[in-house]
Amino acid sequence: MSAAGAARCLDAIGVFDSGVGGLSVLRALHAELPGERFVYVADNGHAPYGERDDTHVIARSHAIARHLVNQHAIKALVVACNTATAAAIQRLRLDFPDLPIVGIEPALKPAAASSQTKHIGVLATRGTLNSEKFRALLASLQDQAHFVLQPCDGLADAIERDDAIKTEALCAYFTRAMGQFGSKSDEMDTLVLGCTHYPFANDVLRANVGQAVVFLEGGAPVARQTRRLLEARSWLAPEGAQLAPATSTVFGTTGNAGQLQAAIARWLQLQTGVQTLSIT
Ligand code: DGL
Repeated sequence: MSAAGAARCLDAIGVFDSGVGGLSVLRALHAELPGERFVYVADNGHAPYGERDDTHVIARSHAIARHLVNQHAIKALVVACNTATAAAIQRLRLDFPDLPIVGIEPALKPAAASSQTKHIGVLATRGTLNSEKFRALLASLQDQAHFVLQPCDGLADAIERDDAIKTEALCAYFTRAMGQFGSKSDEMDTLVLGCTHYPFANDVLRANVGQAVVFLEGGAPVARQTRRLLEARSWLAPEGAQLAPATSTVFGTTGNAGQLQAAIARWLQLQTGVQTLSIT
């Protein structure tokens, strides 16, 4: 390993989302890269992103990336939000050319490859579904499968607030609006969870679409891609290093710290402090 690689391998990886959704990606990062340190920022104070315009999402993504670079000298950035990836990742890569940046996109490609019926449901925010990036992805797969797209206004916010009644009502409404799920030839046998919040409504969605439907989310591929980018630069933590997630990760929020702390305890089974941040 070069001297530069040896120096950088101990630096942290920055991860951000509009709120708790990115914890579903962080969970995969902890599993894939147990020797790494992480800094997680939940932008709850400026969420949800999915129903806001691109200008807002780009400005927030930029401010958070700058914060992570300046305050934590991160060695890589994971945009753990489909909406922010769609709106802002190109700009982030231009503005931080030396920083490896990994984004997340709805798992349409794996869905088209694995679906038997080739009828695939996609749940995502309005912002993601309307983005140019998503439109291009969809166009590239149009001849391989039929995709039923469902914008889920309010669902990320209900999950964020841990509002079980609203989450159940919205999941039932959206999945019913999409059509028939199942394994007959004209039914959707695959459901893409195209927002990082939605894995936290997994059980509720499952109750609506049935056991046979395959759910696809993007956390594990993002974690593998992060490993690849760091490996290529010799910036990975030393082999065999293993840190406890409660001490390897610093959590911060621009919103309600108690809400994020409760979500971390519930979804990652970690008891840890959360810093309140002002990122402008
Ligand atoms: N978790 C984000 C995503 O993956 C969006 C949630 C929001 O609307 O803020 O798209």
